[in-house]
Amino acid sequence: MATHDIVGFSIVVVLLATSVITTAGCKLSPSHYQSTCPKALSIVRAGVAKAIKNETRTGASLLRLHFHDCFVNGCDASILLDDTPSFVGEKTAAPNNNSVRGFEVIDRIKASLEKECPGVVSCADIVALAARDSVVHLGGPSWTVSLGRRDSITASRSLANTLPSPASNLSALITSFAAKGLSVKNMVALSGSHTIGLARCSSFRGRIYNDSNIDTSFAHKLQKTCPKIGNDSVLQRLDIQTPTFFDNLYYHNLLQKKGLLHSDQELFNGSSVDSLVKKYACDTEKFFRDFVRAMIKMSEIKPPKGSNGQIRKNCRKVNQV
Ligand code: HEM
Repeated sequence: MATHDIVGFSIVVVLLATSVITTAGCKLSPSHYQSTCPKALSIVRAGVAKAIKNETRTGASLLRLHFHDCFVNGCDASILLDDTPSFVGEKTAAPNNNSVRGFEVIDRIKASLEKECPGVVSCADIVALAARDSVVHLGGPSWTVSLGRRDSITASRSLANTLPSPASNLSALITSFAAKGLSVKNMVALSGSHTIGLARCSSFRGRIYNDSNIDTSFAHKLQKTCPKIGNDSVLQRLDIQTPTFFDNLYYHNLLQKKGLLHSDQELFNGSSVDSLVKKYACDTEKFFRDFVRAMIKMSEIKPPKGSNGQIRKNCRKVNQV
């Protein structure tokens, strides 16, 4: 072999090796399960449809589950790990405790997938797909989910405690999303998720008793079921108009000072962000486009380097060695 042939051959080998490492190691791809579990996507879709049919709110809960997973050390299903006597997970962190839902739905979908193709589909990918399928099922936009996330072998309750609070002001919200690489526009679009689902009295009490930028009759109505003390778990719609339909009415509510959470109304309270809220209120297509872009970005937040993870057999616990 001539010298230049050897050099050329070596370059090809190096390039091939690099591309294999990249694909196997970190790059997500929509076709990740095409040969190893071709029915994966339809199994998740069917599981989500069944769960929403059983209880419509589940769609909202699955969407939020993905958010709370991705914001804590990346989208690695860390939120699904149960506490044990020797392990503290994220489920009991203040923003999650008695609030985040959908775990049983993920369990059921995982059980079906383990029957079909054992040890192949990660819990983190199931959560990402379930969030997308929920939005689509409730009338929202669709997008392609890139796959190949790995499941964590750890969780962080302390980081989960830093998830954005409903009492946050605009600058805290912006800072919290920026720390995850998400822009102000991404944050406003993702907040449109509050077009579906419910919140507990304890999450909006401060707003209905203390805020001045709230529609008076809206506040009085909410005060009837959410007293100053007690009834912490009484639920209200995040979008008073269509809580089971993924539309842009959340932004309409903000224009009328009818955001349920203090953090919601912060997006329309006299700042430069107001114009974006107005745009989304007038243009569903634009909201959907920006929402999809932001969801893809959020769902690709990576776990820290070096935490290689595994494909859990049971989403609630780390595999035994
Ligand atoms: C901007 C910062 C955010 C804050 C402060 C926030 C806060 C909250 C709070 C307090 C609740 C009610 C929890 C309860 O009372 O039990 C809630 C519900 C919800 N959130 Fe957010 N959230 C934010 C962003 C997001 C994002 C980015 C998503 C999705 C991508 C999302 C999706 C949802 C959904 C769908 C619900 C309803 C869940 C259900 O009914 O089970 N939120 N959020």
